[in-house]
Amino acid sequence: MEKKPFYITTPIYYPSANLHIGHCYCTVATDTMARFKRLQGHDVMFLTGTDEHGQKIEDKAKEAGVTPKEFVDNIVSGIKDLWKLMNISNDRFIRTTDDYHVEAVQKIFERLKNQGDIYKSVYKGKYCKPCESFWTETQLVDGKCPDCGREVVDAEEEAYFFRLSKYADRIIKLYEENPGWLEPASRANEMMNNFIKPGLEDTCVSRTTFTWGIPVTSDPKHVVYVWIDALTNYITALGYENDKYNDFEKYWPADVHFVGKEIVRFHSILWPAMLMALDVPLPKKVYGHGWLLLEGGKMSKSKGNVVDPVFLCERYGVDTLRYFLMREFPFGSDGAFSNEALINRINADLANDLGNLVSRTVSMVEKYFGGKLPAEQTADPIDDELIAMASGLRARYEEKMEAYAFQDGLIEIFKTISRANKYIDETAPWILAKDEANKPRLARVMYNLLETIRIAGVLLTPFMPESAEKIRAQIGAAEDIYTWDTVGAFGALPADIAVCKGPALFPRIDMNKEMEFL
Ligand code: MSP
Repeated sequence: MEKKPFYITTPIYYPSANLHIGHCYCTVATDTMARFKRLQGHDVMFLTGTDEHGQKIEDKAKEAGVTPKEFVDNIVSGIKDLWKLMNISNDRFIRTTDDYHVEAVQKIFERLKNQGDIYKSVYKGKYCKPCESFWTETQLVDGKCPDCGREVVDAEEEAYFFRLSKYADRIIKLYEENPGWLEPASRANEMMNNFIKPGLEDTCVSRTTFTWGIPVTSDPKHVVYVWIDALTNYITALGYENDKYNDFEKYWPADVHFVGKEIVRFHSILWPAMLMALDVPLPKKVYGHGWLLLEGGKMSKSKGNVVDPVFLCERYGVDTLRYFLMREFPFGSDGAFSNEALINRINADLANDLGNLVSRTVSMVEKYFGGKLPAEQTADPIDDELIAMASGLRARYEEKMEAYAFQDGLIEIFKTISRANKYIDETAPWILAKDEANKPRLARVMYNLLETIRIAGVLLTPFMPESAEKIRAQIGAAEDIYTWDTVGAFGALPADIAVCKGPALFPRIDMNKEMEFL
């Protein structure tokens, strides 16, 4: 069967050496969806990258006494290392400083300029002389420069503008005719009521007050102002207007752009308008996820290592952290991050429910059968409920995952895991084991548990790839029955399966000691 392409993106990150766990949230969600789609058999293109131009980078590089390129090179390699550590399976990584992207952005800009969608005018704003920065009225803090707190003055600057107003009617139509194009629905309402209906104004797309950007070919004292440079990454990374890649035809339009809520506006208004101007089809969906907050406020580097993803991965494990991010918060809403909540999840869901089920089951197969089940097994009607639940799990999980409801997908898996734990209590294998005549019955109980674990393990793969693999090894399932196609029904595991006990998957954490340590 031909594999259907599926193209998914994260935002491209501003190079910051202090990416916190909130930044990782979107990347982990995108990775989970990408792995889910691969599991289903799609040909996935998962893109992430870095958004490297702009005044801030220019300033920071100056402070550090290096060129902007040297400055970003160093940070970008750290970001790539972080994604590797977190087991992020991106197929491509774009940097907006990559030559092919720069070239393509220049072509795109010229084309829009030549066809009149970009025109030269005057940008009026508030200017901070010491910072050499333009600000809009709304960016000011108490009427002063948000960076240094000093007075700002009215100023004008020659700039290019994108004719966003021209596309207002088509944007309204896009929203009206495609409910679900922007999700969750609350964000679509917010865009419509707060931005689109009040009227879309043309937007400034060039700057002359700094140089760290892509020069406008026909007017090089201007650099392309960040959003045109940034948003086009989603198509240049496929080879649009460049020769570096050539799978634009294959993967575009994107199936979904995952973005944080504060940048939904650019993705759901400016981006479709730019694509309309370029006569390129629109992405099929934009999903604006919520923010992780810390004690009700924004995360910042001043909060120290409790939100440092490297620290969290090293201390608690990559899969554990990935699981927590996807399980704790509904994807579309904000959530409060706390180390306590993380440890609770590790102990309750992973150590108690999942870890225990696997280790108890595998230990019992070793203890009662020397590690290999006999093929002679006896079923009982008491098995039916567990079998029905495990057999239908893939379908229930798929429905949630297709709706980007990661939390609900996991809840379905864990309901089945809890049911399996209850089945152990109901069938009391330790009592069955007392009588040799019950061996075929005991073997069937073990088989049902292993088979339930197999199904759950495969469906956990997108969330916890390494743990899912460890589970596979412990229950002795061959790779070819640890697949999407084999978990739609019960029974793919051979009856005489041999298990292989391993170390505890998720050791319990002593909450009090841990909180003292933190
Ligand atoms: N460079 C732009 C995106 C351009 S896309 C064409 C940008 N970069 S960013 O580094 O500031 O943010 C990257 C992503 O991290 C955004 O989607 C943002 O919403 C997300 N998050 C930053 N802090 C976050 C939390 N505390 N919680 C969840 N997501 C967060 O914006």
